[in-house]
Amino acid sequence: MNPDQKITNTIPDYWYNIQHDLPEPLPTVKDVIDEGGSRIERMNKIRLQTLNEQDANTEKWVKIPDEVRQKYSEIGRPTPLLRATKFEKYLGTNARIYIKREDLLPTHSFKLNSAIAQAYYAKEEGAKGLVTETGAGQWGLAMSWAANAFELECKVFWVKISRKQKPYRVDWCKLLGTEIIDSPSEHTWLGKEILSKDPDSYGSLGISIGEAISFVSENPQYKYVSGSNLPHVLLHQSVIGLETIEQLKLYNEEPNILIACCGGGSNLGGFAGPFLEEKLKNDQLRLIAAESTAAPRLTTGEYKYDYADPGRLSPLTLSYTLGNDYMPPPVHVGGLRQHNGSTVIGLLRHLNLLEAYAYDQKQAFDAGKLFAKLYGIIPAPETCHAIKATIDLALEAKKNKKKPVIVMCYSGNGILDFEGYKSVNK
Ligand SMILES: Cc1ncc(COP(=O)(O)O)c(C=O)c1O
Repeated sequence: MNPDQKITNTIPDYWYNIQHDLPEPLPTVKDVIDEGGSRIERMNKIRLQTLNEQDANTEKWVKIPDEVRQKYSEIGRPTPLLRATKFEKYLGTNARIYIKREDLLPTHSFKLNSAIAQAYYAKEEGAKGLVTETGAGQWGLAMSWAANAFELECKVFWVKISRKQKPYRVDWCKLLGTEIIDSPSEHTWLGKEILSKDPDSYGSLGISIGEAISFVSENPQYKYVSGSNLPHVLLHQSVIGLETIEQLKLYNEEPNILIACCGGGSNLGGFAGPFLEEKLKNDQLRLIAAESTAAPRLTTGEYKYDYADPGRLSPLTLSYTLGNDYMPPPVHVGGLRQHNGSTVIGLLRHLNLLEAYAYDQKQAFDAGKLFAKLYGIIPAPETCHAIKATIDLALEAKKNKKKPVIVMCYSGNGILDFEGYKSVNK
């Protein structure tokens, strides 16, 4: 097989590792030594060994295990690449717009691509079960699906306020056998400490991360898994971009603009990452991150080392940050409300390889509603940000009489996020 031609049919045989092609090595994680010793060592211990190795790997291609590939096929990969002609016509643009439909996966979002891989490795390494945190719930649901498929236990620390807003997603997880724990909880020392100070605490993603980490530290038969930010998550998500490359060839197209929404950065990294080699040869190719004004890291944040969680339990990573004590306003874009994000995305931005735009939730939901009206499908609140960026760039092309090929990652379905749509109407 030609080493640069790893795709033998429509589902790739190999994941693409962006670390191989980054113009500079990924900034190293800085350790913090506290009374419990080295934080890096502690985190490595509670995570899966294979995923720790994948984070350190700089080889360009990583074989997708057969069982994972088989599951990708069962969930409907490759997902379609839609030419959005109705959208183009509505906007009156000569841009050609393509939409990668990750919302069609069984749990409604791209998160399943990494959840399946992580559950597979957990089974291989003999873990009893997996523990994670979730905000809006797309990751918690994907992890529940994957744990169930690989017959593993699953425990999800769910931010209390978000859990109340997403009752059906909670029910779905429970149906798959997951134990849902309202966070802050009485299950961990951290939860107990927070509840003793504020029994009515709504929780936050940072608190849920802290609880999941402390639970696994005390129960080592479980492993702690994450749904974004880390290099191994972007690696697994590269199936999105690799499929898109092949599908664009079928349309006889070369992209000019690639757009995805950005929270921790995993759908953006997985979708646009495989185009990095092309971007380094052709500066005209534009990679675009659509973020929320509720947490505008890439547009207004500072590039510096910071903790991943407001509880400051993690080691330090270099990326754009708003400060670990930043409290985003309570908007419904759960997946985009982080104070910092992926080191890979941070480096791309720092090297001027990535543009970023921030939108408020009214702008985003208006774009989502327009798309729903045209296509009859409901974009996830996070996805609405990518749609807004797509509209703006298509209209810019119209103004400048250009005909770019715009490709957007449609990261998820928002049918269970309807309360967000309704509340913004008020
Ligand atoms: C549907 C959807 N899209 C996008 C995101 C943002 O995540 P990331 O930045 O890791 O792609 C999330 C995160 O929860 C999500 O649920």
